[in-house]
Amino acid sequence: MKMLNIALPKGRLGEKAYGIFEKIGCGCPEIREDSRKLIFENGETGVRYFWAKPSDVAIYVERGAADIGIVGKDILLEYEPDVYELLDLGMGRCRMAVAGPKGRRPDPDRTLRVATKFSRIAREYYESQGREIDIIHLNGSIEIAPLLDLSDVIVDIVETGSTLRENDLEVYGEIVPISARLIANKAGYKFKSGRIEQITAALRAELEK
Ligand code: PRP
Repeated sequence: MKMLNIALPKGRLGEKAYGIFEKIGCGCPEIREDSRKLIFENGETGVRYFWAKPSDVAIYVERGAADIGIVGKDILLEYEPDVYELLDLGMGRCRMAVAGPKGRRPDPDRTLRVATKFSRIAREYYESQGREIDIIHLNGSIEIAPLLDLSDVIVDIVETGSTLRENDLEVYGEIVPISARLIANKAGYKFKSGRIEQITAALRAELEK
């Protein structure tokens, strides 16, 4: 049997998503062992899992190194990889939001300085509002930017809201809800459509339980 390569995002979401694969009979027991190993194979069920950095999962899938993968909708919106989006797993729920210092609103007549990891999402959002902005692309700890007056607002992921709260920031507006998605390589989907469709259907049924 030809192996089905599955890219999982390293971390809590990936582990939770893997749990669903396990439930539908696509497990690979070795993956649960505590180790630094990154690739796991189960010859019996014909699946090979690997842990990738969450923002890299779509790259592996787009280029065919993985047949399918689990990725946040935020990554799909930001990088627009050429992949099929097969299923909303309904986990890893959060929202993309505009936030800034509590009780303050930016001057609408001035160019808005926006700090973010999600430049495309921010640009498209403000374009749709006809608002002129200056994007400041950062790689993490975005919440610091408005506190040090590097930006007026941030566009970032809000999950529990505690990072904002603990830094005296608040949500000014929501852009889009986010959750984890099952994606597939386009060519791989043609060659392995039977298996991929079967897995997608089993995951969907498991999630509906
Ligand atoms: C993400 C996001 C926020 C935080 C939101 O950061 O960028 O900072 O989680 O979660 P909360 O609403 O539950 O507090 P991440 O941990 O990915 O780190 P980062 O600073 O590298 O973006």
